[in-house]
Amino acid sequence: MVRWVTIIWTVSSPCFAFLSSRHYHRWHAMPSITCRPSDADVHARVGRQHVPIVASSSTDNDGGNASSSEATSAQAQDIRLFLTQRTIQSFMFLLASTRDLHTVAWLDRFVQPITINNYWNEDVAHKPGAGDTFRENDKRLGSKLLNYHGLSALNTTMFPAWDTFFTSLLEQPDTVLKIHTPKDLGERAYSNFDIDIEPARLCARILSVREQLAREMTGDLKAIANMGQLIFNSYWENAKNRKDTKQTKTGNGNGNGRGGDSSPYGFDRPSTMYINFDPQDDAEFAPSPLRKGNFDLLYNLITQFAVMKLLQDEGGVVVGEDEVQNKCCQVYLSKFYNDRLLTHFVGLQWYGKGDDFIEELILGSPIMMPRSDAEKKDEKRNDSEISSAPLLVVEPMRIAEQILLRRDKIALEWMDIMQQTPSDHTSIRKMQLDRLTGVAGASPVSVVLLDDDFQ
Ligand SMILES: *[C@@H]1O[C@H](CO)[C@@H](O)[C@H](O)[C@H]1NC(C)=O
Ligand SMILES: *[C@@H]1O[C@H](CO)[C@@H](O)[C@H](O)[C@H]1NC(C)=O
Ligand SMILES: *[C@@H]1O[C@H](CO)[C@@H](O)[C@H](O)[C@H]1NC(C)=O
Repeated sequence: MVRWVTIIWTVSSPCFAFLSSRHYHRWHAMPSITCRPSDADVHARVGRQHVPIVASSSTDNDGGNASSSEATSAQAQDIRLFLTQRTIQSFMFLLASTRDLHTVAWLDRFVQPITINNYWNEDVAHKPGAGDTFRENDKRLGSKLLNYHGLSALNTTMFPAWDTFFTSLLEQPDTVLKIHTPKDLGERAYSNFDIDIEPARLCARILSVREQLAREMTGDLKAIANMGQLIFNSYWENAKNRKDTKQTKTGNGNGNGRGGDSSPYGFDRPSTMYINFDPQDDAEFAPSPLRKGNFDLLYNLITQFAVMKLLQDEGGVVVGEDEVQNKCCQVYLSKFYNDRLLTHFVGLQWYGKGDDFIEELILGSPIMMPRSDAEKKDEKRNDSEISSAPLLVVEPMRIAEQILLRRDKIALEWMDIMQQTPSDHTSIRKMQLDRLTGVAGASPVSVVLLDDDFQ
């Protein structure tokens, strides 16, 4: 089957520069050109998992900063940028559900998303994390973003701020995609048709989606701001039950009877209330298409952000009055977080990872740490003093409590940010209107001939 692409007009937009026939031809065969880091990249990342920050900083001598480059690579995504990412994904989903996959593909070329997958083979149809995403053979979907349930899909070099996507979208020329269905696919009623890509119109529609998502996230954050307390109440309730079942279990002898209690279970997960909710129940407005996924990722992001805050702030973790013990807790959290970075926060993820993280921490056993772990750099103390100091107890449960408290607080701050979204959009809307009405000076229309890959 011969597939061909001809670019008639001079295409100035950089995002079409790679639409050379060779690349376009291999677009689906080789999604890694732009959509995915190479396998080597992924392996490099996976490899990093085994080099947690504290491992080096505790063996390093004095001047070592705990926040090395390793930590900065683990930055949590900016909430406004996250909103932009989910907006693009929702908009693509809307396009795909009207079968406008060509526009999806155009957007994908423009965004060049980073869809890291640390888990499964791309060619396997079953996508464990993709419960709420577009369920079709994704090779034909035009963008991996349609199936991507994860954070940080936008390249922050290309889109450093939440609005860079919109400003550069408005710089793209109007484009006509001339779609041709190859003869060898058989006769069709519409074997040739045009798709107009007008960035100004796309921009207006995408901004509306962004405002809807911001409204929904405002509500979600309001709920999250109360979840810390819920989790703790539920944890204590379950702790009581856990003790009860343990006593009755040992009385009966412990056979294989896994009465559902054998796997540890920390608390009733507040996040699942949302994931299981029926959008028809209270649909005053139709919910955005990726509603559940948005909530799950927001919940994951805010958990990560709270952890980052606790690690970055001097005296971030406060479990008591003993500063050394607080520092030990921070060191413990740092290791705990870095060990789980790839499995909980980076790239494609399963649902519920935010709660997983808290649960694993909350169920962790208290451990003893030598005081010296926290005060390596303290020159006032000499060796004999340190070695004679007693061990400290680090209680992971107390650290989890700190994360939950911090998260509740951040949720309120983010609510404010989300509520400002419509006014944030004012200047973009003005640029968009200028472009639409020709004030901004129209660039020539690009015409691109494409074979139809989505039939
Ligand atoms: C260590 O941290 C200090 C203050 O945060 C900063 O000025 C310095 O550049 C850092 N050093 C390294 C090697 O990262
Ligand atoms: C992000 O974009 C920059 C500039 O286009 C590029 O050099 C870099 O490779 C991209 N990063 C990823 C992870 O794709
Ligand atoms: C360490 O400190 C103790 C008590 O302050 C002191 O008696 C001892 O001489 C010191 N040792 C050294 C090597 O400085």
